[in-house]
Amino acid sequence: MTPIILDCDPGHDDAIAIMLAAGDPAVDLLAITTVAGNQTLDKTTLNARRVCTLAGVHDVPIAAGCARPLTRPLQVAADVHGESGLDGPRFGEPAVPVVGEHAVDLVHRLLQEHPEPVTLVPTGPLTNIALLLTRYPGDAARIREIVLMGGSTERGNVGPYAEFNIFVDPEAAAIVFGSGVPVTMCGLNVTHQALVTPEVVARLEDLGGDLGPVCAELMTFFASTYKKLWGFEAPPLHDPVAVARVIDPALVECVDAHVAIEVVGAHTRGATCVDLHGYLGEPPNAKVAVGLDAPRFFDRLVGALEDLRAGQVS
Ligand code: RIB
Ligand code: CA
Repeated sequence: MTPIILDCDPGHDDAIAIMLAAGDPAVDLLAITTVAGNQTLDKTTLNARRVCTLAGVHDVPIAAGCARPLTRPLQVAADVHGESGLDGPRFGEPAVPVVGEHAVDLVHRLLQEHPEPVTLVPTGPLTNIALLLTRYPGDAARIREIVLMGGSTERGNVGPYAEFNIFVDPEAAAIVFGSGVPVTMCGLNVTHQALVTPEVVARLEDLGGDLGPVCAELMTFFASTYKKLWGFEAPPLHDPVAVARVIDPALVECVDAHVAIEVVGAHTRGATCVDLHGYLGEPPNAKVAVGLDAPRFFDRLVGALEDLRAGQVS
């Protein structure tokens, strides 16, 4: 089992990423940390607690992190995820608490205590991760790799070239990609291959209990905003792709490349300039995802959710 910490901004796709990470036997989810992104920190943290309550995940600490980007004002994605950040289904009161430690301090402590290096899986803006590397530079040696959802080798989704997670905090992204820690970038170019079709929604509904129908409702809402905003016939399940890369690297094909983060561009702030052909003359600083085995990805996801469901029954 690969020990991981999931840093997220739930967020509909983050919610599924939490369940994949908690349910799949290939990874050991040590902690969930939250960051402001899709919604404000109080909402993303409440949503993480809601998802863990729904999924029956009571043994993974949840810690809240940064409430705003390193230097810029926060920009949320209410148009995509709704005012709550997890619009669609109704959730009861969460039965999973948030710990008192700041996310960065919890990650630092776990990195020091864990007997082997830990994989960090950020699926929101990289503010918490950048702050960890800045506040505790020695922790870099305790990080096996950073496998993140963010960026794109092609176009963006909050500007012509900027993807949301990088756009919200490009300074944080520059710190992470420049840290020397092994980074794998799962960008829009590959997450747009993970489309939640009606067939996938039906598989979720068939899971039974509360878990299946709520996951289906989450995806139905997510589909409505992706249809309205971008004309997608099915929404892309971004964040679980990063978790899947850790679970089974063969699911996500990667190439080595230098990735430069645009932090000053008048029209390109937050763009990931992925140098696939070495034009910049810089050595690779990341593995960049370029392909997804979508059928096996969804089989693995549904399997993990079935395991969670079975755990609720037993
Ligand atoms: O651009 C997609 C990413 O931004 C996903 O992680 C989504 O949850 C939002 O955080
Ligand atoms: Ca996210």
